[in-house]
Amino acid sequence: MNSMNSLNAALGHAKTLDATDPLAHCRERFILPDGVIYLDGNSLGALPKGVNERLHRAINEEWGVGLIRSWNDADWYPAPQRVGAKIAGLIGAKPREVISCDSTTVNLFKVLCAALEAQPERDIIICEEGNFPTDAYITERTAKLYNKRVVLANQDNIEAIIAEAGDKLCVVALTHVHYKTGRMYDVQNVTALAHKYGGRVIWDLAHTGGVIAVQLHDWHVDYAVGCGYKYLNGGPGAPAYVYVREDLIASLDQPLAGWHGHAAPFSFEQGYRAHPTIDRLLVGTASQLSLIALEAALAAYDGVDMNAVRAKSQSLTSFFIERFDAQLAHFGFGLATPRDASKRGSQVSFTHPDGYAIMQAVIARGVIGDFRAPNILRFGFAPLYLTHQDVANAIATIADVMQTNEWKRPEFAQKKAVT
Ligand SMILES: Cc1ncc(COP(=O)(O)O)c(C=O)c1O
Repeated sequence: MNSMNSLNAALGHAKTLDATDPLAHCRERFILPDGVIYLDGNSLGALPKGVNERLHRAINEEWGVGLIRSWNDADWYPAPQRVGAKIAGLIGAKPREVISCDSTTVNLFKVLCAALEAQPERDIIICEEGNFPTDAYITERTAKLYNKRVVLANQDNIEAIIAEAGDKLCVVALTHVHYKTGRMYDVQNVTALAHKYGGRVIWDLAHTGGVIAVQLHDWHVDYAVGCGYKYLNGGPGAPAYVYVREDLIASLDQPLAGWHGHAAPFSFEQGYRAHPTIDRLLVGTASQLSLIALEAALAAYDGVDMNAVRAKSQSLTSFFIERFDAQLAHFGFGLATPRDASKRGSQVSFTHPDGYAIMQAVIARGVIGDFRAPNILRFGFAPLYLTHQDVANAIATIADVMQTNEWKRPEFAQKKAVT
């Protein structure tokens, strides 16, 4: 089949799939630039409508006119809890089990310390081999601080590694969906297994929140952290979130004792007394404007069923892989993501030795994904604003960039700071 025929066949199939999409109306909730197919919502989500207006109001009225009064009058102060409660609805948590604050990295440090403080007699931390660097660095440094041992595991040997740690297991800290390959752990099984040996679990939900229907509370997950700027669309550097199962909150001990985590922040006591609720995860003053942006962005999920989001994500990624096989594989790409939809998150990654230049050329054509060294081209699928027709068109563009050797132009080999 020539490329025009391939595109037409793919578009026909895509239209049929889009025709029955229960989330089709959500695309209207976003501002998407013309000429762009955005496959990087797993890095920085698109801009939801309403955020701009909400931020303008926050700046011009609440800050500009209300000034300091807005902490009370505009309800700024309880925003971390309010945003946390909204996110809780997307990850199967109770509203007071989640709070939005700080970065994923900092929140990971807090809950990792909390898990180590909770069971000081146990000395093994299981972490993922090849995890996202921030998780690896935080785990390694925290283990050093507490004089604990880090044991590396991967998706193939995690069960054996947990069993081997046995009653020395303190905590298993894993990323649910791998940032490079998109391969996904079974949260429920791994959590249950860690508990069987008396350990606790921390899940990094960076690539999960807003796209995979997890049930943190019912699955008895101990702790979790996640990003506000990926599928939750909170904007660059948006505040992150942290989840702690309700029965662990009252005794949770985390070392970043700041005034916003105090039981009575405005009593200005000299000694630290942790707040009795999830608020004890707070540290300092919230990034209020960013929090307001994230809160407004979360309206894009109003009335959205996470099971429908997951189903559409699986459909988009399956269709992408189907078209990859038909139109791209023969250009020397390898598929780095599991073919089994139940074992992957909402991304598809290819390998190619010239991946960086290829991705730059594809981005120049308006199909935006990203590159992860040394050879991964990564595409994320945000079900609220993508269609199967976007997928068909993106594949056709990548195929054309390969067919015409456009990616070999020298400008595409120039490395940028952020890839
Ligand atoms: C698995 C994972 N954890 C954490 C982060 C980022 O953490 P932070 O928001 O603190 O930079 C990312 C970013 O891509 C990630 O993929």
